[in-house]
Amino acid sequence: MLALITGGTKGIGKEMAISLSKRGYDLILVSRNDKGLDDIKAKCKTNVMFYSYDLSIEDENYRLLEETKDLDIDIFIANAGYGDIGRINKTDTSKEVNMIKLNDISTFILTKEFLKRFIKNNKGRVLITASAAAFGVAPYMNIYYATKLFVYSMAHGYYRELKDMKSKVRISVLCPGPVKTGFEERANAKFTIHSLKPEYVGEYAIKKMLKGKFEIVPGFSIKLSHLFSHFVPKRMISKVLRKQSEIKE
Ligand SMILES: NC(=O)c1ccc[n+]([C@@H]2O[C@H](COP(=O)([O-])OP(=O)(O)OC[C@H]3O[C@@H](n4cnc5c(N)ncnc54)[C@H](OP(=O)(O)O)[C@@H]3O)[C@@H](O)[C@H]2O)c1
Repeated sequence: MLALITGGTKGIGKEMAISLSKRGYDLILVSRNDKGLDDIKAKCKTNVMFYSYDLSIEDENYRLLEETKDLDIDIFIANAGYGDIGRINKTDTSKEVNMIKLNDISTFILTKEFLKRFIKNNKGRVLITASAAAFGVAPYMNIYYATKLFVYSMAHGYYRELKDMKSKVRISVLCPGPVKTGFEERANAKFTIHSLKPEYVGEYAIKKMLKGKFEIVPGFSIKLSHLFSHFVPKRMISKVLRKQSEIKE
């Protein structure tokens, strides 16, 4: 059994890797550098391979697909991503463009191509790390929120297509709220609301994905906010969410 995880070397992806290894999966972890890999290997009894790709570069996604085309991969997890927080006139547009390329373009290319492979064999699972950001709109982080709405919406559509074709291929989407990882540092922010531990989120995500659950929302408060998001107007949500993190000037 073999799983490929993008962004599998740190944070949520790392914990998903450890959870899958406990269940007997060999792993291919993809990220830009192998920092932290020794720790993962020490925690995993199965084989851990590392492929270095910068997935914000479109061509690198196609190279990864080429490198893995003959491997019998059972699970593909599109998890690499990051956020960016700041005022309209302070955030770096090129950082946001790069974020769109990683969070959306890469997730789209890899998800679609792995789904095509899996559909051909009528087996396989895809898990996309979206975010609870997909449920709302937030000033100072609106581009990140929009990237997560894109992949969330894509996952919903593919879920229905797979059902319609009576495929045995499964797709799930993970929607966590704040999680204590390297996310805050790269986003240049500090959460002001409670964060879950990545160990909990990673294990929860894998457990639910393997049970075939489509939408995976860890933590009671985020489940509740998801429920409310169906009834509360977007303008009100954005008023509340503008206080979710401190903006570092
Ligand atoms: N933490 C949260 O509060 C939170 C909440 C909801 C959703 N999420 C989502 O969860 C996912 C994982 O984030 P995390 O919180 O675990 O953050 P993290 O600790 O920063 O981990 C991000 C992972 O993605 C990899 N990565 C980053 N840029 C990459 C690139 N250009 N190409 C290939 N790999 C890249 C990183 O490795 P390298 O840096 O070595 O490339 C690392 O393995 C993201 O999609 C994020 O949006 C996070």
